[in-house]
Amino acid sequence: MPTEIFLQSPLDMHIHLREGAMLDLVAPLSAETFAGGVIMPNLVPPVADLERLEWYMGEVRRAVGEHIFTPYMALFFRNYSEADLAAVREHIIGIKLYPEGVTTNSEGGVKSLSDAEQTMAMMQDMDIPLLVHGEVPESFVMDRESDFLPIYDELAQKFPRLKIIMEHITTAAAVKLLDRYENVHATVTLQHLLITLDDVAGGLLNPHLFCKPIAKRPEDRDALLHAALTAHPKLMFGSDSAPHPLEKKECCGCAAGVFTAPVALAMLAELFDAHDALDKLQAFVSGNAQSIYGLRPPAKTVHLLKEPCTVPAKYGDVVPIRSGGEIGWRVV
Ligand code: DOR
Ligand code: ZN
Repeated sequence: MPTEIFLQSPLDMHIHLREGAMLDLVAPLSAETFAGGVIMPNLVPPVADLERLEWYMGEVRRAVGEHIFTPYMALFFRNYSEADLAAVREHIIGIKLYPEGVTTNSEGGVKSLSDAEQTMAMMQDMDIPLLVHGEVPESFVMDRESDFLPIYDELAQKFPRLKIIMEHITTAAAVKLLDRYENVHATVTLQHLLITLDDVAGGLLNPHLFCKPIAKRPEDRDALLHAALTAHPKLMFGSDSAPHPLEKKECCGCAAGVFTAPVALAMLAELFDAHDALDKLQAFVSGNAQSIYGLRPPAKTVHLLKEPCTVPAKYGDVVPIRSGGEIGWRVV
């Protein structure tokens, strides 16, 4: 049984870094252990033009400081002209589509998917990946993702050369969809590999595990975990780490989002070790993403030891997953 591992250029393929003081707090925490990440554009207002994208990339780079960390920028989906897409293309990894109102800061999201098809067709022609928050906002909360799966079917068939990423999948049915279409891929979070709805609301309510999409049933968690532990080649790690200040979490009207970035890699090592699958972790946290997106991340070796460490109760005013608890692995 290994008691240490070395990971090459781990990547977090879905992360919320925010702006201002929150960005300054959380960006270095990701950059300490990851070599790059896909930066979500759901600021207020969203990152939905080249000027704002360049500003935001500069902010992220400034906040990351001396760490080796490449921000792969995602643009907020709206209807773009061909000229817009041509101008922004070399600066982004993809365009993130939020159905209107589906989650935090998605008010400017897509109202009608049929109106979005022209932009998608141009993205297909220009090789710009489409990243999707795949939930139907009007559906019952447990069914929002499964109700969206037929939309993925439709998009995958209508745009067979468009690279589609199902972001933060939470269901066994979504895992199955990966094998149906060559052009469909997915990210999965740490929390959705670990928890079910029981951990959020089955006993005393835990607001720090409340996120969108919400955690589902044990059989969903198990299907996600199996796909991750076998390093399914179309599945990538994307933490969806989503920091909110404590007063926005421990209140009535709790914001959605689990803050995992600073402990994600150590907890993944612990999880993969517990299932005797440490040999699959490199592909899950970097190799698969490199193949899917054709990335060449900066070289960065991260050394992890099988030694217990205690998770801080808070980082600034943000409470992390497993706050105050122990992890069996730590980043050196
Ligand atoms: O739980 C979530 N929080 N899900 C999302 O899709 C957005 C995120 C956030 O930005 O806080
Ligand atoms: Zn997200």
